[in-house]
Amino acid sequence: MERNVLYLNKKAMEEAGVLDMKAAIADLEKVYTLCARGDVINPGKCVLRWGKTPEDENEMGRINAMPGYVGGEYDMAGIKWIGSGPQNYKKGLPRASVTVILNDPDTKLPLCFADGTAVSVLRTGASGGVAVANLAAKGARKLLICGAGAQAPAQLEAALIARPDIDTLYVYDIRPESAKRLAELAETRYKGLRAVPVDDPEDAAREADVIICVTLASQPFIRGAWLKKGCLVMNMADYEVDRDCVKRADKVVVDFWENIKHRMISTVALMWKDGEFRDEEIHAEIGEIVSGKKPGREREDEIIYFNAVGAGILDIALTTRCYRFAEKHGIGITLPFWE
Ligand SMILES: NC(=O)c1ccc[n+]([C@@H]2O[C@H](COP(=O)([O-])OP(=O)(O)OC[C@H]3O[C@@H](n4cnc5c(N)ncnc54)[C@H](O)[C@@H]3O)[C@@H](O)[C@H]2O)c1
Repeated sequence: MERNVLYLNKKAMEEAGVLDMKAAIADLEKVYTLCARGDVINPGKCVLRWGKTPEDENEMGRINAMPGYVGGEYDMAGIKWIGSGPQNYKKGLPRASVTVILNDPDTKLPLCFADGTAVSVLRTGASGGVAVANLAAKGARKLLICGAGAQAPAQLEAALIARPDIDTLYVYDIRPESAKRLAELAETRYKGLRAVPVDDPEDAAREADVIICVTLASQPFIRGAWLKKGCLVMNMADYEVDRDCVKRADKVVVDFWENIKHRMISTVALMWKDGEFRDEEIHAEIGEIVSGKKPGREREDEIIYFNAVGAGILDIALTTRCYRFAEKHGIGITLPFWE
């Protein structure tokens, strides 16, 4: 009857390889492919929300529960439990904090309690990287990142893995000091990359081959009219880009369409709710592209809109890789669950 769980804190997760972006991208490609084959259980988010409106939520915060099962080589169930405290920065704390619990898919017993904070950043960066690899123009050189918070460095790292020829980064943030900090970090970290903080996103958006939005904005600040031919615009959070970005797109690609409609905060979801966008207008879920069922970008001049809501199965896959490595190499603390 005795059962143990492995406890992996932040340091243990780092020792187990959580910060390896190339491994995270490989995980995401496998999970998206498993999704396209139907070898996952992906029931969507349960949102524990403070306040009554999206504006309240952005002020007061939320905790999301994201359960799932991933098949294939992962064969693991679990849940991501992610707290978002928008005022945490005043206490010197990151906004997001994540716990991942892994469960044996056979007995359903817990196997691992892990700090998933880096998991969440890496897998979201990797989901951006998979989108850039499949949907950005081959000749993409100019990248605009909007929102210079916790997610931004991972989005940048993954985008540069997917398109190493990107030579110019523009950074826009409602807090100019955050944009400046990310630009400085980018120039230090990536030799030869020109990184420019901007106070207004318009000129940079007009030039950008790839626009990645990872902000807390609940009102659009990227206009469809600004997008140049060949642009990939990535709406990684809420209502950040206007409806013209979707209307002008030659292809609309998403990660998990049912989950996006369930969450109902992104541009394309709100358009669907208002009858301005139909299910049939989705070109593909990204898993259909990664698995070769549907094409990604076909012409250099296509405008493509990508929206990702994320899912617990992504976090479960990355955590499973780290958990198995940790078990093999004696990393972490074994805790008695049933003594
Ligand atoms: N799609 C996914 O799978 C996924 C996964 C994780 C997080 N997210 C989302 O990504 C977003 C960013 O997450 P994070 O952890 O980096 O948050 P964060 O709080 O660390 O950073 C957010 C940044 O956005 C900036 N910002 C806020 N409002 C803005 C506006 N109107 N215009 C421009 N910049 C603005 C803030 O100043 C901050 O620098 C969140 O909305 C989060 O929910 C998406």
